[in-house]
Amino acid sequence: MSGGSVPVSGHHGPGSPPRGRSEPVSASAEVEAPSGRVIAVANQKGGVGKTTTAVNLAAALAEQGHRVLLADLDPQGNATSGVGMRGAQDTATIYEMLLGDATFADGEQATAWSNLSLIASTIDLAGAEIELVSAFSREQKLRRALEPAREVYDLIVIDCPPSLGLLTVNALTAADGVLVPIQCEYYALEGLGALQRNVELVRTNLNPGLEIIGYVLTMHDGRTRLSQQVSAEVTGHFGERVCKTRVPRSVRLAEAPSYAQPITVFDPASRGAIAYHRLARELVERLASLGTPAPIAGGPRA
Ligand SMILES: Nc1ncnc2c1ncn2[C@@H]1O[C@H](COP(=O)(O)OP(=O)(O)OP(=O)(O)O)[C@@H](O)[C@H]1O
Ligand SMILES: [Mg+2]
Repeated sequence: MSGGSVPVSGHHGPGSPPRGRSEPVSASAEVEAPSGRVIAVANQKGGVGKTTTAVNLAAALAEQGHRVLLADLDPQGNATSGVGMRGAQDTATIYEMLLGDATFADGEQATAWSNLSLIASTIDLAGAEIELVSAFSREQKLRRALEPAREVYDLIVIDCPPSLGLLTVNALTAADGVLVPIQCEYYALEGLGALQRNVELVRTNLNPGLEIIGYVLTMHDGRTRLSQQVSAEVTGHFGERVCKTRVPRSVRLAEAPSYAQPITVFDPASRGAIAYHRLARELVERLASLGTPAPIAGGPRA
């Protein structure tokens, strides 16, 4: 653990990928700083705010001084473009890492912002589920590929695709915690039973340390009865697992990707940026209450 207690905040200019552990930081003086923790942002339902949450949470965590790797595990590549990047010719993508043709070091790219790096995705990833069908330990590919990244980054945030297929199973197998965005809309709870069962299956068979670290309500509009109802229903169902931070419905959040910037850069004073900063601090607190991650079978984490 880096375990330091120097509060760090504010935007950093362009920088290179984080290396080493010379500047330990934490989100607040009281909370132990995370180190080498992997968070999967998952919900098989489409359009609930997974990518918006992965990108902006990663950016907020990076601004708060944590060394963050954003891993785009969706063939749509929205997290990649959301931080102004693309799968470059001389840089490997997550697809090549999954197939074992590239290492994490081949795929790691610095973004324009300090402390924030990316593993990019391209549409090639759409074929990975089929190409991996006959592969040995196909569910463990991402975990093994990201293993060295845990030594370098405090937090690795994985943006999952809208399915419960092999890509998401890989993310769940690689993760210490799952963060589940829930859109404030009718049928908000629909499909969450299936997600929970998948998390259980992965925990039982592949990754005993896996926890649902939080459910986060997105596109929340406190003025509407619907948002209030969904909020009450989700809290009634999941209790303390629901993050206190509600992400507001905000046009600025929807606009930021078209400027290839996280909200924390695009409009740092906006409600969306404030919410994702708050969510970042809440996540760090939640992580501190989890135990130390277990090493993977057959490969010590060092
Ligand atoms: N808090 C918000 N306020 C307003 N618009 C939002 C908010 N969060 C997400 N959106 C918009 O809703 C749409 C879906 O969001 P996003 O892409 O983050 O969802 P997703 O779960 O990643 O989707 P997919 O399942 O396709 O990967 C996007 O157009 C995004 O800009
Ligand atoms: Mg997405």
